[in-house]
Amino acid sequence: MRRGSRTTAQKGHPFGRLPSGGLADVLWDWSKSGTRTAARNRLLRGLPGVGTASAYRFGLVERPHYAYGVRRATESAARLGHRGVTVVEFGVAGGNGLLALAEHARYYAAATGVAVRVVGFDSGAGLPAATDPRDLPYLFAPGYYTMDHDRLRARLGAAELVIGDLDRTLPDYLDSHAEVLSCHPVGFVSLDLDYCSSTATALGLFRGPAHGHLLPRVTCYLDDLPGTIERIGEAAAVADFNAAHDDRAIGRVLGLRAFTPFDPPWADQIYVHHRLDHPDYGRLEVGATGDQLPLDPGPSRRRGRH
Ligand SMILES: C[S@@+](CC[C@H](N)C(=O)[O-])C[C@H]1O[C@@H](n2cnc3c(N)ncnc32)[C@H](O)[C@@H]1O
Repeated sequence: MRRGSRTTAQKGHPFGRLPSGGLADVLWDWSKSGTRTAARNRLLRGLPGVGTASAYRFGLVERPHYAYGVRRATESAARLGHRGVTVVEFGVAGGNGLLALAEHARYYAAATGVAVRVVGFDSGAGLPAATDPRDLPYLFAPGYYTMDHDRLRARLGAAELVIGDLDRTLPDYLDSHAEVLSCHPVGFVSLDLDYCSSTATALGLFRGPAHGHLLPRVTCYLDDLPGTIERIGEAAAVADFNAAHDDRAIGRVLGLRAFTPFDPPWADQIYVHHRLDHPDYGRLEVGATGDQLPLDPGPSRRRGRH
């Protein structure tokens, strides 16, 4: 969750930015990479010939990291012969992320023919009480990020919203939806729960002996890494998971930013859960990478001399 927002200032917080209505406001907004990116995207999307497919290809859409996750999930599902996949947002708050996820799901379902289920999990009442000093209790308080249920439900469409503390709702959901998940295994997860303890609970999705509810590799977006350190918050929950498992790992995708259009900062927050003990882990995803590296023609051939 982005911090230091205008909301804080509008509430009259002494350290929030107070709108001055002048050039300082413009500079403040323009100093944010998010503002510059949004302006660039609006400009590019207005160019002739830049349609929806190009917007997705170049990450010019709302929450491109969610679009990336849905793309990876649908591609991987298709290559492994699944006709459906599930994508999950842990931590929904007002619902803007869940609605963006649902929009990307509709796009990639139409583009790939893979049915995409969208599920959001949230307490519905904002953050619970912190239970671990690594929950960043100096930043977050119980009740932050409440939800307007009626407004959100009115716009959800086919997306599911599971309300209640994850401690209870996640195991219940996995139990009651085992069959639908076996036909639509989870392929993308956004972790945006702010707390180390809640993230650890969400990672329960990857624990236990069952595999049928998951693709062998699950793309994860970790929203709450920036501004923290490795031994607190989300990063600590991931480290604990890795320490407890020999044949499963959650790790950052190395080098992703360099080969993503416009090398966006969000690429550094893309992780993948590798499930080495999944029965399909070693199945070849045909088309996922080039399959030959032929020798170049050589200098004389390149110049056309034979
Ligand atoms: C930062 S907000 C999510 C923001 C949202 N993803 C977005 O992009 O707009 C964090 C959310 O996590 C939820 N949350 C944190 N711990 C939870 C838990 N143990 N069970 C259920 N929800 C939890 C809170 O209710 C809160 O709405």
